[in-house]
Amino acid sequence: MAVRDLNVLFLASEAVPFAKTGGLADVTGSLPGALKRLGVNVRLAIPFYRTIREAAFQTRAVLNDLHVPLGREILPCRILETETPDKVPVYLVDSPWFYDRPSIYGEGSQDYGDNMERFCYFSHAALAMSQRLSFRPDIIHCHDWQTGLVPALLKGPFRQMGASSVFTIHNVGYKGLFPEWRWDITGLPWEEFFHAEGVEYWGLISLLKSGIVYSDAVTTVSPTYAQEIQRPEYGMGMDGILRHRQVFLRGILNGADYRLWNPSSDPHILSHYGPEEMSGKKVCKEALLRELNLDGSMAERPLLAIISRLDNQKGFDLLLPILDALFAMDVGLVVLGSGDGHIQWLLQEAERRHSGRMRTHTGFDEPLAHRILAGADLFLNPSRYEPCGLTQIYALKYGTVPVVRGTGGLEDTVHPLDYGTGEGTGFKFYPYDGWAFFGALREAVAAYYNPPLWRRLQTNGMHTDYSWDRSAGDYLELYQSLKVAGK
Ligand code: ADP
Ligand code: GLC
Repeated sequence: MAVRDLNVLFLASEAVPFAKTGGLADVTGSLPGALKRLGVNVRLAIPFYRTIREAAFQTRAVLNDLHVPLGREILPCRILETETPDKVPVYLVDSPWFYDRPSIYGEGSQDYGDNMERFCYFSHAALAMSQRLSFRPDIIHCHDWQTGLVPALLKGPFRQMGASSVFTIHNVGYKGLFPEWRWDITGLPWEEFFHAEGVEYWGLISLLKSGIVYSDAVTTVSPTYAQEIQRPEYGMGMDGILRHRQVFLRGILNGADYRLWNPSSDPHILSHYGPEEMSGKKVCKEALLRELNLDGSMAERPLLAIISRLDNQKGFDLLLPILDALFAMDVGLVVLGSGDGHIQWLLQEAERRHSGRMRTHTGFDEPLAHRILAGADLFLNPSRYEPCGLTQIYALKYGTVPVVRGTGGLEDTVHPLDYGTGEGTGFKFYPYDGWAFFGALREAVAAYYNPPLWRRLQTNGMHTDYSWDRSAGDYLELYQSLKVAGK
């Protein structure tokens, strides 16, 4: 079957450059472009959030009179069209009631109380839209719980569409759980779908489980995570169902969009550099120290960095207790993060104790993320679990040596330094233990003071290639196998 005959519709709750809270948006923003380059006829649909409305994207209305059933109501919907920088068409599902809000998922640390309605509406609207447009998807590729209803709808009320579904788990920790009395919102027949082999999860509705159970193929974002989530320690209560669907589950490693994340062309950094000419990195480090008002002496000491959601997933409970020991090694630390208020408070508290050497910048700041990647020496990812992780992949390209816990995509993308051969790209530890993390950091700091070794580590990392091309090929192969099987 010719690739160009393959119509694929991506459904996601966020995508770069339109709306982003984390790595999901990086993936859904660039994977469609990589598939397009392979010849796939791919399109994307996302909600039309306020941030998109207020930005200067060119849009045109393609459907003004769509009606979307939600529970007992039929709600109006408008579909606008725009495109990604790769010229992938993007449908924007417009409902001011649901999406014209300050944020994507919630405000403060509180999720919007009607997120079930907001994303079930999005799922129904995307399918209703697909029935009206001339673009008929062969495959609907859904991402995370927000679109987990779609595979079930395609096996139920939308069966006649004949589309197959792929469901990608970016994080099994977000199960999309809602009380059973809200079932009507799903639009699914109760007897057929609300049971232990279906959408039910311990008496609740789980939209993540819906995606896992009813899709024709399940993927997750690294090979190691695909194995881990089939075990109780990492499956977060979904391991049983994932083992059950084992033959339909595979891990495809995320890629990086090196057009956006590359120190040789990054518009956000003061001086460009590459593996052959590193002097720009020093300029970026000095600029970062000045910008964050850190002690100038840090220019000659290791500067450590974290860019992350402030969430238990990311290992802050390992970092915080070892901070005093860490600063005793005379290092600097920069944290850019947003999320959990308690983690933020603890970090700010630590900053007060180590002023001049530690800076916590709270909020979501994309340009600053680039400047930190370029200016820091070491990048820390002590995650409790990490489905893929993109920041360590970006850090490698910026010559910022990663220190990671060997889990999920961190295990797959960072290779420990081999002192014999000089191969390897970073430092790793395995037990979820602060002192194991400290041991890896101590080793990394010692390597920093050995310039030839350090330079070797940096260049090894900068030569790594996790561009999307290979992973996009894996997705294409999967789509083709589903289409051939007529699933
Ligand atoms: P996750 O999706 O679990 O948050 P990833 O490593 O896959 O983790 O992706 C995180 C993405 O979000 C990266 O592009 C990273 O640069 C970005 N990011 C995270 N926190 C912030 C922040 N506070 N400001 C700017 N960018 C951030
Ligand atoms: C999730 C995961 C992260 C992954 C990202 C993109 O947010 O936490 O590890 O890189 O999705 O797939």
